[in-house]
Amino acid sequence: MKKVLILGANGQIAKIVSHDLLSEDIDQRLFLRRSSRLTTKNPKKQEIIEGDALNQADLEVAMKGVDIVYANLAGEIIEEAKLVVSAMKKTGVKRLIWISTLGIYDEVPGNYGKWNHQQLDGGYLETYAEAAKIIEASELDYTIIRPAWLDNKDEIDYELTQRNEAFKGTEVSRKSIAHLVSQIILNPDQHIGESLGVNKPNTDGDKPAWVK
Ligand SMILES: NC(=O)c1ccc[n+]([C@@H]2O[C@H](COP(=O)([O-])OP(=O)(O)OC[C@H]3O[C@@H](n4cnc5c(N)ncnc54)[C@H](OP(=O)(O)O)[C@@H]3O)[C@@H](O)[C@H]2O)c1
Repeated sequence: MKKVLILGANGQIAKIVSHDLLSEDIDQRLFLRRSSRLTTKNPKKQEIIEGDALNQADLEVAMKGVDIVYANLAGEIIEEAKLVVSAMKKTGVKRLIWISTLGIYDEVPGNYGKWNHQQLDGGYLETYAEAAKIIEASELDYTIIRPAWLDNKDEIDYELTQRNEAFKGTEVSRKSIAHLVSQIILNPDQHIGESLGVNKPNTDGDKPAWVK
């Protein structure tokens, strides 16, 4: 059976993916700091491994025997990108799903694009953009995912834009991103070498509807 390594397994999207994959034919290795925060729902399909994505040795141990790496990380994202790529090369794992953010290519048009810059410039957008460049230059079989502003609505409703298209919409649910990630994990030949913008259809505007 195929095995996926989920980096940042206590993250909000990662937890939905992990739950969704329990009913599928795939094994999961859940990588997180302070692993006592997570318990397996099905020990036959899920294995928990403690580690820090800023530690290459931890990553290499975690990557042994896996087919796909799904990185749901945050924080020191440039260093994490370098180390994940390096550990994948060392261990021979080729398939990577990397969660990034909207705006890394300055692809968000209009007033929403300006608002997004106001919110995310000054350390976040720039570092996520740099991390994405590292992934794109890696020669791994990557898929970069650029979600719109996230909410926790109980819905799966999304559309995709490609690397060289203008970003659409303003928001999307974490459940939708998790659905896309799960679909790629189950169909790893899809979306190789792509950087996907993900938004809820018909949510165009100057900012997400829930922002005052
Ligand atoms: N909020 C938005 O509207 C929005 C929009 C687009 C994209 N995004 C991005 O989408 C990504 C995923 O979203 P999310 O809601 O699932 O985020 P999240 O809940 O914050 O998950 C990120 C995870 O990264 C883990 N992490 C950070 N540094 C780590 C390290 N050195 N080693 C191991 N794990 C580490 C964190 O682990 P700990 O629990 O140990 O801290 C956390 O569980 C994030 O990068 C976020 O910035 C967010």
